[in-house]
Amino acid sequence: MKNIVILISGRGSNMQSIVRACAAEGWDARVAAVISNKADAQGLVYAAEQGIATAVVDHRAFESREAFDAELARVVDGFKPDALALAGFMRILTPQFVQHFEGRLVNVHPSLLPAFTGLHTHQRAIDAGCKLAGATVHFVTAELDHGPIIAQAVVPVLPGDTADGLSARVLVQEHRIYPRAVGWLVHGQLRVVAGVVTHTEGESQLVL
Ligand code: GAR
Repeated sequence: MKNIVILISGRGSNMQSIVRACAAEGWDARVAAVISNKADAQGLVYAAEQGIATAVVDHRAFESREAFDAELARVVDGFKPDALALAGFMRILTPQFVQHFEGRLVNVHPSLLPAFTGLHTHQRAIDAGCKLAGATVHFVTAELDHGPIIAQAVVPVLPGDTADGLSARVLVQEHRIYPRAVGWLVHGQLRVVAGVVTHTEGESQLVL
């Protein structure tokens, strides 16, 4: 049985989608812990209700990013993770942390990477006149919102779209591709060659 650890900072809807898929699809894995850098993260309540271990490592209690990440890594390691999923975890991680979990560390980002790294992705896509937007699940590397792409979902940008409207439409797709990608990871179905991720059995990595 593989262990999945999920890091959140807030609502945790992507975390919930992974918890649900893991149970509903009978993965050979369990969500061993949900960890937040914020004690009031809504998602912690859901995780505790599901009987999942929770922990808080408050970044404000540390003098440096390095010290915070070292403690976070120590707490995460306590749950022996085979996969570590960032799900709305709004902290930039140090190269040391990323390297420690390399190959096991994944993230969901609300844009079609490599476009629109960082924040305010939906408004920026609207302002740029994009006709397509979407979400990306990727392996995490030291560079923010970069790393080999595991899955992407595409949605249209509609005339008159607001950031909130587009965000809601993209989120529905995040909830489809993120559990799928984490499931592939824990079942050993992903290969990375020269920065390109393929599925060992040819599953589609694109949701249109
Ligand atoms: C999601 O839209 C996720 O893609 C985004 O934060 C939201 C968290 O929602 N993540 C990032 O912007 C990371 N760069 P959730 O807490 O309900 O999963």
